[in-house]
Amino acid sequence: MKTIHVNTSHPYDVIIERDGIKKSGKYIRKITGASKAAVITDDIVGALYGKIVTDSLEKNGFECSTFTFPNGEQSKNLSVFGEILDFLCENSITRSDIIIALGGGVVGDITGFASASYLRGVDFVQIPTTLLAQIDSSVGGKTAIDIKGGKNLAGAFKQPALVICDSNTLKTLTPEILSDGMAEAVKYGMIRDKNLFELINNHTSATIHEAMDDLIYTCIDIKRDVVEHDEFDKGERMILNFGHTLGHALEGWHEYTNFTHGMGVSAGMCMITEKLCSPEIHEKLKNCLEKYSLPTGTDIPINELLPFCYRDKKRTSGSLSYIVCKTIGSAEIVKVTIEEFCRLMEE
Ligand code: GLY
Repeated sequence: MKTIHVNTSHPYDVIIERDGIKKSGKYIRKITGASKAAVITDDIVGALYGKIVTDSLEKNGFECSTFTFPNGEQSKNLSVFGEILDFLCENSITRSDIIIALGGGVVGDITGFASASYLRGVDFVQIPTTLLAQIDSSVGGKTAIDIKGGKNLAGAFKQPALVICDSNTLKTLTPEILSDGMAEAVKYGMIRDKNLFELINNHTSATIHEAMDDLIYTCIDIKRDVVEHDEFDKGERMILNFGHTLGHALEGWHEYTNFTHGMGVSAGMCMITEKLCSPEIHEKLKNCLEKYSLPTGTDIPINELLPFCYRDKKRTSGSLSYIVCKTIGSAEIVKVTIEEFCRLMEE
């Protein structure tokens, strides 16, 4: 077992342990005196791991209730959000109880936001079961739901009280969902850690499981460091968005269907690197992403993507920021006007 302590305004630990999910009740008991635990999950993850978690919680003295909603981004909406709040109320969850998010990014995001708003804030625990959720969304306190105007447009900063990452849960993921997370892992290597990049580059999707615990630990530790310096996303945290301006645009263009976040980030990282960095770095990044069957560009005309870039919520009026990695392992944030960004991409 490895632990990373995240020193934000509400500090917490991230536990990384194979089969850690089986001991989740014991770990959660150490951080709370709650009598009730409300588990929020989706139908796919709930069927795989719901009983393991509730058995462990009950063994450790928690009275459990479970709310399950349909798997997928389309559930991250106001209606399911309202159903979760009603469920918490119907089960008489109080501020001294605990809420558990069991699942991928959608479950973590919507449960985190419900925990931030129900009774003006109840502690919650993240048990992420996808690679993307383990190395990115479960750590750092960003919670949100989608509204008509776009993805993640309503939410709150709410740090979890504990995160439990069990890499064995990744074994049930489809290759596409694993690759979705691998794009973010490559991103961490590019922005902060050449050795991590090389570790990923020396494996393929067939062998990466052997290195998974080290990979998860290293990625979360990078995220910890960035988040500790900029918990509320005022500046430095933006380096986590390498590849994301174009990535979000690609996701938007595809209407968030049959095109994962990781696919967008992967293509976005390659497109910006091709424009601004040496051919060697671009080639290295491209080869690495191809090992995980991730896209390294797009056929969509850039003028069709640019309108989606303007909608990016990281944008301030009249300008936007993009991230560039001139060498593997270091990143800089570049702020440009929208006109400059268009010129750059259209060149
Ligand atoms: N997923 C990027 C961040 O947490 O800032």
